[in-house]
Amino acid sequence: MAISAVKGFRDGLGPAACLSREIEEAAAGVLESYGFSEIRLPILERTELFARAIGETTDIVEKEMYTFEDRDGSLITLRPEGTASVVRALVEHHLDQKDSILRLYYAGPMFRHERPQKGRHRQFYQIGCELFGREDALADAEVLVCVRDILDAVGIPDARILVNSLGDENCRPAYREALRAWAERRQEGLCRNCIGRLGRNPLRILDCKVESCRETTAEAPVLRDHLCDPCGEHFAKVLAFLDGLGVAYTVDPRLVRGLDYYVRTTFEVTAEGLGAQAAVGAGGRYDGLVAQLGGPRMSGIGFAFGVDRLALALEAARPGAEERAGAALAPAIFLVSLGTEAEADALALARRLRALGVRVELDGGRSLKSLMRRADKLGASRVLILGEEEVAARRGTLRDMVGKKDEKLAVDFDLQGPALLDALGVER
Ligand code: HAM
Repeated sequence: MAISAVKGFRDGLGPAACLSREIEEAAAGVLESYGFSEIRLPILERTELFARAIGETTDIVEKEMYTFEDRDGSLITLRPEGTASVVRALVEHHLDQKDSILRLYYAGPMFRHERPQKGRHRQFYQIGCELFGREDALADAEVLVCVRDILDAVGIPDARILVNSLGDENCRPAYREALRAWAERRQEGLCRNCIGRLGRNPLRILDCKVESCRETTAEAPVLRDHLCDPCGEHFAKVLAFLDGLGVAYTVDPRLVRGLDYYVRTTFEVTAEGLGAQAAVGAGGRYDGLVAQLGGPRMSGIGFAFGVDRLALALEAARPGAEERAGAALAPAIFLVSLGTEAEADALALARRLRALGVRVELDGGRSLKSLMRRADKLGASRVLILGEEEVAARRGTLRDMVGKKDEKLAVDFDLQGPALLDALGVER
């Protein structure tokens, strides 16, 4: 019997893989223009890292992690996100001693044991970044502008940025108690999950998707009204910077996050066409995390986009995006070698063209008719035929598949470099 992939784990095939790569490259290009440099992180970490960083009472740590016993009995986990690993790497390698400001980005698969549905998978891809060592509101604004620039570069400028301030250790505890006391009087309107959350993580009730909870908490006190002065001023400054640049955002006073490390500015990016999983990205400030994981007191802020969801949003915003990305797979030259005489020359020519950056598919050993059918199927723009006669004359027969002109051109295939490309009509 054939073996299928594990539930929630998918293959990225042809055009879908091309689109994901295009998105990652567009995002990485923007991140590098902001001074971020790449860090390659391990996929496995000690379980304790995520438990301490993300929070013991979060959904991720409580029920979504792929945790295994390693052969030596220690507990290891497939990373559910990247921030904890970046902070671990910073502390482990004392990166703060090399530079007081760090800008790092990462891309790759993350793993969460969630119920698979559209836009939600057990292995999914993120591209994210972390900026350390900057506490000022300018850094928050810069990070949010970077989010907007990535959305523009990827091609979903209509995505919305929702922002909120979660306060800090000075103002949030009092708010948490106020919210808990408020909700305890309204338990009949809350789902069982939220009643459980009241004791452990009351802010999460604002995030519950159950209709009765949403109705019940519609009137709940919001953190924004409980921010201490420094948090309030910080948030106002961030918003003023965004207003000054005309970067669009919506303040969502109910926005709370499923990870415990956030303080102050937090945000989520939503896009159309994704159904229930509308968040294409999210992030925020986490000033206490580095110290909490045994490092120096160093503030941090960052975000991660879900690449799979960006692809869905892009397809919804610009139908055919995946197919267009897949068009990059079509060879610019389909090189046909007819008969054994031509094989060695065809192999050498294909190699020279590839070295010039041309996508070449080399094929032969069959009838010209079946080779032409294949060139057509692949969407090749040009077919270059090398047969016995062509090799003797040192001139290949070129057919333009795009214009479907039936004229054949004799091309000197011993030409070198740009002259060869020009003769073949391949764009440089
Ligand atoms: P997060 O909100 O858990 O934040 O995930 C960020 C993004 O990853 C989500 O907005 C979503 O697009 C994508 N994502 C999450 N789970 C899934 C899934 N099961 N299937 C498909 N896509 C998914 C973080 O991970 C934080 N580390 C972000 C951050 C970086 N905060 C500060 N720095």
